[in-house]
Amino acid sequence: MKTRITELLGIEHPIVQGGMMWVGTADLAAAVSNAGGLGIITALTQPTPDALRAEIARCRTMTDKPFGVNLTILPSITPPPYAEYRQAIIDEGVKIVETAGYKPQEHVDHFKEHGITVVHKCTAVRHALSAERMGVDAISIDGFECAGHPGEDDIPGLILIPAAADKVKVPMLASGGFGDGRGLVAALALGAEGINMGSRFCATKEAPLHEAFKQAMVANDERATDLIFRSYKNTARVARNAISQQVVENERAGKPFEEIAHLVKGARGKEGLDSGDLDHGIWTIGMVQGLIHDVPSCKDLIDRIMAEANAVITERLGGFIKG
Ligand SMILES: Cc1cc2nc3c(=O)[nH]c(=O)nc-3n(C[C@H](O)[C@H](O)[C@H](O)COP(=O)(O)O)c2cc1C
Repeated sequence: MKTRITELLGIEHPIVQGGMMWVGTADLAAAVSNAGGLGIITALTQPTPDALRAEIARCRTMTDKPFGVNLTILPSITPPPYAEYRQAIIDEGVKIVETAGYKPQEHVDHFKEHGITVVHKCTAVRHALSAERMGVDAISIDGFECAGHPGEDDIPGLILIPAAADKVKVPMLASGGFGDGRGLVAALALGAEGINMGSRFCATKEAPLHEAFKQAMVANDERATDLIFRSYKNTARVARNAISQQVVENERAGKPFEEIAHLVKGARGKEGLDSGDLDHGIWTIGMVQGLIHDVPSCKDLIDRIMAEANAVITERLGGFIKG
């Protein structure tokens, strides 16, 4: 399959693995890239900019295919040293960056000065247009179904993707809720030229997650997520568990963030991911859990998605057209 996305990113299949805190290590990124998609290392999963440099170098030992780095800019009481992470990405010769979050202008400018291809991920048409004006090379548009931060507009992909495609001129990845070949074809039909997946790549052999989480994703259906931080206007879609339910109840009772902060700390979530205790902390996952039925290798997953997409286009859709 050849699209403006495969051409821009220099990849075989129009499938990108979005940045994922704690999950987006070189192991997963290299596996996705070796399978013909675009793997992405998540910068802030590395504790320091120097650790990110080492992780990028480690990825190069595992793949000679293109891969990218995600830089997520979120509001924070003590922000990470974004400029230093950015410099590490530039110095290490990374060719593709996924930016996400607030006010990416200075990052986009700096990356573009160094000839880096920038894909900006966002959750609203107006943000996509603003990123396009900033000079990004592609947009990843993330619908309400997605894992992580869906924004506050609650527009599902079925509307958001074509609404964005009507206005955005640079190539677009559709994101949020994608996990199989049917989804890929739907994304192409809606005006995107590839898909970005997060959750589906968590349930692969190479994802650095405890097996218990992968099996939970297989067992869970599409209803097993909660929206937390709604009342703080920083909505996040996470797996429904004891902690997410506690957070939702506290928010319903009008409690301020300070009262739930101990429940949602990143370090606590990471401890859970490592130990396999599903109820220890918050863990991020999307509605696409309902379409996850196994834990394949990234290569088997991507090959299957492409085979299914081809069959949907040539057989199922083709079959509807009268000869
Ligand atoms: C475990 C996990 C962690 C994530 N962390 C980040 C992150 O740090 N930065 C970011 O831009 N997106 C993050 N995301 C969102 C993904 O990059 C992607 O946009 C999203 O998962 C797409 O929706 P899907 O899960 O339905 O495929 C995360 C997603 C998951 C599942």
